Amino acid sequence: MWKEIFKEGNRSKISMKIGLIDLKKQHTPLENEIKVAFDRVLKSGMFILGDEVSSFETEIASYTNCKYGVGVASGTDALLLSLKAIGIERNDEVITTPFTFTATAEVVALLGARPVFCDIDPKTYNINPDEIETKITSKTKAILPVHLYGQSADMDLILQIAESHNLKVIEDAAQSIGGEYRRKKLGSLGTAGCISFFPTKNLSCLGDGGMVLTNDEEIRDRLQRLRLHGAREKYRYPTLGYNNRLDEIQAAFLRIKLKYLDGWNERRKEIAKAYDDSIADYVQTPYVEPHNLHTYHQYSIRTKKRDELQKYLKDNGVATAIHYPIPLHLQPAYSYLGYKEGDFKESESASKEILSLPIYPELTDEEVDYVTETILKFFKSH
Ligand SMILES: Cc1ncc(COP(=O)(O)O)c(C=O)c1O
Repeated sequence: MWKEIFKEGNRSKISMKIGLIDLKKQHTPLENEIKVAFDRVLKSGMFILGDEVSSFETEIASYTNCKYGVGVASGTDALLLSLKAIGIERNDEVITTPFTFTATAEVVALLGARPVFCDIDPKTYNINPDEIETKITSKTKAILPVHLYGQSADMDLILQIAESHNLKVIEDAAQSIGGEYRRKKLGSLGTAGCISFFPTKNLSCLGDGGMVLTNDEEIRDRLQRLRLHGAREKYRYPTLGYNNRLDEIQAAFLRIKLKYLDGWNERRKEIAKAYDDSIADYVQTPYVEPHNLHTYHQYSIRTKKRDELQKYLKDNGVATAIHYPIPLHLQPAYSYLGYKEGDFKESESASKEILSLPIYPELTDEEVDYVTETILKFFKSH
């Protein structure tokens, strides 16, 4: 935090600089633990698929109440390998949301399958399950809901639809580690759940990393082969695969950080409440379904004055971000799918009005107050 006090007329005014995230603040108190873990891995001489990865897989499986974890190199790889593991092939269709990070639909497209978009529920920004059934064809193989910003999609309905049409459900839980749907951990509800440990995530490593959660032993075995060039045993390749493994060093760091995750998520919830309490009269604050435990990976507000508010916050030292400014169906990369403006109205209007405020566990109460006061000042003058 950068802070400056200066005089404005007779009043002292505090100006702060608040980023979207401050990983130095998270890592400083963990420095000793991180160095011990680094030394342990260094001295082991084992850097690929050793004890750290397998211990972390067991620990995260137990944390999420899932049978198996398979450590992979990123959240994107978790999605890619999960889709491969359930047998997604060229010309298959996978139903998902256009209001997400590109990786969700990208992996579908990279496998030669077709991402079929459904619009979102404007309250939660998650896929609208009422639309899913209208998009199912004989080619549909899976539903890929995203628990956006850390809040669960409507999983009961999604799982019911999947079951009645014999489809698989792959959860994109990249943003939602620690979150719950009806007391079940996100990522543990579908055939597979995909987690990202990208540095900005609630549980992050010091680089790229990911995990697939599953209760299905056969899927676990396929995932383990897929991340290792398709190998069943050394130099025996029944199928093609990838080199998509979680590193030992990252697993060692993640094992340390997993212990703090619930506390960090609790602090995010406290900050979200402070934001809710102060600004709900001026902007649409996040709506949380009563049966959901939100991880507040993002605290995203909605206002028609989004662009002016973002500029005002920036001018006053507060960083914000837009998740996401252009829905995927309007991105050039997906133009071959043939969608056009107006196809997913809720996603389009959310992308024009959504704004993510700084939220991370180390944000102080004083900083949260500064953000809310700056927002209130904006609305009093605009
Ligand atoms: C919704 C969503 N899906 C997938 C990913 C991909 O994860 P990664 O960046 O670890 O590949 C991310 C993270 O950036 C994400 O937010």
